[in-house]
Amino acid sequence: MVKILDGIKSIEDFSLEGKKVFLRLDLNVPLDKEGQISDDTRIRAALPTIRYALEKGAKLVLASHLGRPKGEEDRQKLSLDPVAERLGELLNVDVVLVEDVAGEAPKALLAGLKREQLILLENLRFEEGEEKNDSGLAHRLAAYIDIYINDAFGASHRAHMSISALPALIEKRGMGFLMKKEIEMLEKVRATAERPYLTVLGGAKVSDKIKVIETLIDKVDGFLVGGAMAYTFLKALQVPVGKSLVEADSLRFASSLMERMEARGKNFLLPVDHVVTTSLDEGAEVRVTADRRIEEGWMGVDIGPKTRELFAEALKGAKTVFWNGPMGIFETPAFAAGSFAVAQALAESSALTIVGGGDSAAAAQASGYAEKMGHISTGGGASLEFIEGRRLPGLDALRPPKTSDQPSEPWTGGSEA
Ligand code: 3PG
Repeated sequence: MVKILDGIKSIEDFSLEGKKVFLRLDLNVPLDKEGQISDDTRIRAALPTIRYALEKGAKLVLASHLGRPKGEEDRQKLSLDPVAERLGELLNVDVVLVEDVAGEAPKALLAGLKREQLILLENLRFEEGEEKNDSGLAHRLAAYIDIYINDAFGASHRAHMSISALPALIEKRGMGFLMKKEIEMLEKVRATAERPYLTVLGGAKVSDKIKVIETLIDKVDGFLVGGAMAYTFLKALQVPVGKSLVEADSLRFASSLMERMEARGKNFLLPVDHVVTTSLDEGAEVRVTADRRIEEGWMGVDIGPKTRELFAEALKGAKTVFWNGPMGIFETPAFAAGSFAVAQALAESSALTIVGGGDSAAAAQASGYAEKMGHISTGGGASLEFIEGRRLPGLDALRPPKTSDQPSEPWTGGSEA
């Protein structure tokens, strides 16, 4: 097991028979306009731990957040009802959705719970105390729990009640199978990446990625940059980008990053051509540019064919590849070729390939190459924060309490970890 998990118990370390087990999951799945689940990857990723607990005779209380509910209206839209239904289908058990999260209902239901039944608490973020990491709410839940298991890697960067305050109150606490796998795989990139190590970055905003770029600059052998963030870098090089998305506030950072990469003799690949359009409205004209320049009135929406080749060629020699962020608006088929080409290059590579971030994970799934990736993280923000070397409150909360003779140095993400 990787060092960062030292001292953290696994679900397999506990005897679960007849025990009331609280299982925190990240079932925050995308919903379409009709409120149907459009991608159930996170639900499926949670199944091994749920199945294991059921087989071992646990009385299961599952819990998750869904979306970021604001007011009363969101209570309808962001109910875990469709998730309960999907879980029931996939597990072939009776999933009882409990609205009264903080009241007496879960305790009463647990008393009579049958073996082929489990409880799913309604969206935790409907409770005011969840995001406030409220200890009062944590105490109410802890009152009926024997064992706490966190398998919600994707939410473990949030110091929320079900991730942080609650496990602190339960002596028997540990991680599930997904959490362990996520940390072990991402740790291979964070701490011990085999060289050459390349990072493919995409997505809309440079500003979202500044921290991770700063962390990676001395670790990677090169960056391949696509997606909308590439236009900010091109603009910083005075290349015309038409009306493409540019983050004016990040231009200075973009220039300094490129200078630092050059000073280190490392690769920094930007698109050499683009797929462009005049507008995102249906039926708008779509073209491929001749080179890296984009004319006035046009906006970049994907990397072009020469760039796809350039990136695929560069990825060939890599031993480790971390991919975060799509190369274009891949949800639109006409702008998906760049992201799919990266997915294909990763699938054909013998490198350890790790995909982190919700959008790149979705692009990898949509490309049809998902099965060929080394690991696709279920975490968006959590995987980035982990790679940045930041502490995850969800992991910290699972550690044994410190005794006075134990060193209390925080984990810094440095090479000692
Ligand atoms: C995610 O989707 O990245 C996790 O479920 C966390 O969700 P949040 O960003 O709303 O906290």
